[in-house]
Amino acid sequence: MANNEKEILLKVRGAKTYFAIKKGLMKRTVGYVKAVDDISLDVYRGETLGLVGESGCGKTTLGKSILQLVPVTEGSMEYKFEDGFKDLRKLPRKELDNARQKIQIVFQDPYSSLNPAFTIFGSLEDPLIKFGMKDKQERIKKIGDLLESVNLPRDYMTRYPNEFSGGQRQRIGIARALSVGPELIICDEAVSALDVSIQAQVLRLLNQLKEEYKLTYIFITHDLSVVEYLADRIAVMYLGRIVELTTSEELFANTLHPYTKALLSAIPVADVAQKKHRIPLQGDVPSPANPPSGCTFHPRCPECQERCKNERPVLEEYVIDGVSHFVSCHKVKEMMEAKGAVKKESVSE
Ligand SMILES: Nc1ncnc2c1ncn2[C@@H]1O[C@H](COP(=O)(O)OP(=O)(O)OP(=O)(O)O)[C@@H](O)[C@H]1O
Ligand SMILES: [Mg+2]
Repeated sequence: MANNEKEILLKVRGAKTYFAIKKGLMKRTVGYVKAVDDISLDVYRGETLGLVGESGCGKTTLGKSILQLVPVTEGSMEYKFEDGFKDLRKLPRKELDNARQKIQIVFQDPYSSLNPAFTIFGSLEDPLIKFGMKDKQERIKKIGDLLESVNLPRDYMTRYPNEFSGGQRQRIGIARALSVGPELIICDEAVSALDVSIQAQVLRLLNQLKEEYKLTYIFITHDLSVVEYLADRIAVMYLGRIVELTTSEELFANTLHPYTKALLSAIPVADVAQKKHRIPLQGDVPSPANPPSGCTFHPRCPECQERCKNERPVLEEYVIDGVSHFVSCHKVKEMMEAKGAVKKESVSE
């Protein structure tokens, strides 16, 4: 499948989300946490895009930035509406509310977002009322249908959040996201808190719902083995930037970035014959308030060269056997140039 045959649903260009660090009585800004630091990517309609990286690399902030739930510092996020692409950053309040009907986010623990004083019906009817379903009988039917679609009995709508298990609450969170008829769902660590067996059930459910409702997913996780099962493409993030992005198949078969290699080598494999050589990541993740110079991965990179310390590598697209593969690494670039691999323009240019 060549990318140019696919329909782009969301175009992120040069996105930066910086949080000011304030100190002292006067609350002076003394620096910035560069949570998202120049990210450009496309999301295709109907795909599942996995977004992976260690804790604190900016995955949630990128998800929230797309939805404009945090103030975005720079860049654009163009979403394809019926009448063409519009930058979510520039939408007037009312239009942004409508856009949020098309783009939903499911967080790790929906318990925190389900009001414990309300029944499930009470929690789920809110968005329906907001988007115009005035008739109560209609809402009861709709919520029953939604619960059934996430494999829960209809009559659970009269129960309270504390009467459910983690897996059931996550299904309710998904039902709530589905209730407003979204096109794109950002699943932020949606299964991370669940037992492995329940995780598999919820992942299967997400796959079924994707077909049924023709959804597009951005699936955020720190666990590469989860996205291997689910994602069509995977973007690997490190300190607010994307370091590698390609199809899941290509990422696992032809891993190019040293950071991705280290992440992949850390996935537990059951089959001893398949056990990969584990590449330990040296040191801790540096602070996004004070990222290293050049390639921000250089202090931890086993393949670091002199230029990596000073020159920031660009995320460049290579086409390998017809498959698009984005990587930002000086060493990979040299290797690709030596091989004569086709290089396309950077997505951010
Ligand atoms: N509202 C905020 N104000 C200040 N700093 C923030 C805020 N939200 C996030 N950060 C910082 O931005 C960086 C990225 O955080 P983010 O939550 O996006 O990471 P993450 O990749 O989702 O991590 P995790 O896997 O732990 O969920 C972190 O250093 C975090 O401390
Ligand atoms: Mg997060």
